[in-house]
Amino acid sequence: MDGKEHTMAYEEDFDAEWYLDTYYEPSLEAVDKDEFLQFTLDSLHDAFRTARVTGSRLLDVGTGPTVHSVISGSQHVGEIYLSDYAAQNRKVLTDWWKLGTRPQTGIMEYVLRRENSDESVINRQDDMRQKVRGILAIDVHLEHPLGSEYGSEYFDVIISSLCLEVASQSIGEYRKAMKNVCGLLKPGGHLILVGLCGQSYYRVGEQTFSSLPLKRHQAEEVLEDLGHTLLSMRWIKTQDSVLSDTKGAFVIVTRAGSTTKTLLRT
Ligand SMILES: C[S@@+](CC[C@H](N)C(=O)[O-])C[C@H]1O[C@@H](n2cnc3c(N)ncnc32)[C@H](O)[C@@H]1O
Repeated sequence: MDGKEHTMAYEEDFDAEWYLDTYYEPSLEAVDKDEFLQFTLDSLHDAFRTARVTGSRLLDVGTGPTVHSVISGSQHVGEIYLSDYAAQNRKVLTDWWKLGTRPQTGIMEYVLRRENSDESVINRQDDMRQKVRGILAIDVHLEHPLGSEYGSEYFDVIISSLCLEVASQSIGEYRKAMKNVCGLLKPGGHLILVGLCGQSYYRVGEQTFSSLPLKRHQAEEVLEDLGHTLLSMRWIKTQDSVLSDTKGAFVIVTRAGSTTKTLLRT
């Protein structure tokens, strides 16, 4: 697969239904066997329970067609905003929000079990859907990624999962994208970043998408340069897969400084 041209044309080439079917709609039994998914869901759970991430407004950046990243957080915030660059992903999210389609039941069950909760999947879905305030268009490469309506320092919590490294072609671009995203975070707000290490491509349907082969210390350095305090960092080595050349995954939780830093290493 290496050496081939990979696409970055998300609106044209990203098959939202295939992505959801393949990566995020397993049964509970399948989630129990999926190390990466468990790592992500457990880390998100722990961030809200242990690191006490909380606040009024939560933004998920580059949500794709999947809401797994906000299941735990939905219990700790008042309003949820989902966002994506590609219209077809926003359509899947909007259908879930308005109509309750594609409920990701196995993942919901896993998170509820992790919480020791006796809440039903339907209840949690309804609660999440009621808290959603918008499905927003976003481009992390813009200084104001959500446009002028959502000014700077607007959100108490930002989650971003597997977005910035696949949207960037160089570490310089990754740094700028991170700065743009963090500009939406209130001083003292929390960022939860789920990222992949060493990945140069991943498959979605017939297409392979390009990705920046990031090292986890690079993500930490970018955030420290932006004035964030690292609260926790976890990582795992991922298993070999026919779907990507990913080497590992990390989840970093940070608290933004009291003022937004504007200087970045180049
Ligand atoms: C690998 S998917 C990750 C989806 C989901 N967050 C997850 O954890 O599985 C990458 C997502 O980033 C979005 N994306 C790509 N370029 C972007 C950009 N410039 N700004 C915001 N999102 C972007 C894509 O549309 C896609 O939904």
